[in-house]
Amino acid sequence: MPIEETQSQVILTHPENKDTSVSILKYGATIFSWKLEGREQLWLSTGAKLDGSKPVRGGIPLVFPVFGKNDNDELLSKLPQHGLARNSTWEFLGQTKSNPPTVQFGLNEKIANPDLTSLWKEKFNLILTVELGKDFLKTDIEVENSSNDRDLQFNWLFHTYLRIPDIEDTMVSNLTGMTFYDQLIKETIVDKHPVISINEETDVIYQNVDSSRVIQVVNQGKPTHTVKRVNLPDTVVWNPWIEKSAGMGDFEPKTGYKEMICIEPGHVHDLVKVAPGEKWQASQIISQDALNYQAI
Ligand code: BG6
Repeated sequence: MPIEETQSQVILTHPENKDTSVSILKYGATIFSWKLEGREQLWLSTGAKLDGSKPVRGGIPLVFPVFGKNDNDELLSKLPQHGLARNSTWEFLGQTKSNPPTVQFGLNEKIANPDLTSLWKEKFNLILTVELGKDFLKTDIEVENSSNDRDLQFNWLFHTYLRIPDIEDTMVSNLTGMTFYDQLIKETIVDKHPVISINEETDVIYQNVDSSRVIQVVNQGKPTHTVKRVNLPDTVVWNPWIEKSAGMGDFEPKTGYKEMICIEPGHVHDLVKVAPGEKWQASQIISQDALNYQAI
């Protein structure tokens, strides 16, 4: 059965390969598993809560309308870290295509978590489209400003946790020459390294990366994930390493930081502004392409 809906989840299976599937929790519209020919592509904490009691630690949580904590914006500063989309139950809107199997989820201020919409009283309509290709996963977001008299200002981010064999044998390519803001040391730096390798806690935001730059995660010379972006100029690279993982109650096993890297395409350096009645759209496409160094 290509699409199976339960009370809390939707599971798509590719019609040409029963071992290629994606599982989406209605809570947060969080993709928590994506298997390509039986191989899991996303990292999910064994301590992740899938019961709607807190955002999922792993998979692809959705960050809206604020990335991190915003202390400057009058409206967004009231919201908790990463906003309200990942801790609201989305409506399953159904299937829009049978091959590649494609489904949609919706969220607006009427059905979102009331504890959070009471803090941020904007009108919005989100539609997430998930397309399971034979060899890719595409997530597309449309944000509509459904107010008729106010601009809507927000951040968007796909908080994608990629599963990798070993962080110490992994590098991230094609961000050379880009400017990043290091959230740990609070400095803006131009990346001069030919590739990014991670051997300590890392929490950086690459800014204004042209969509022609295809980000690749490469393990021992083999690309494990290729991340393409449409209308998402910024990319967060995050690995909590030892101490930060130890401090996160739902991060399990504690050595799990070795097997994950977050590559998070978003619009977070500044706010997207959408006029009343208008829409904004963006996508992330993850695949396994051949190695393609665009900059060394
Ligand atoms: C990343 C941020 O996107 O998410 C980090 O850059 C943050 O600063 C991480 O620690 C995890 O956030 P949370 O709220 O899921 O623990």
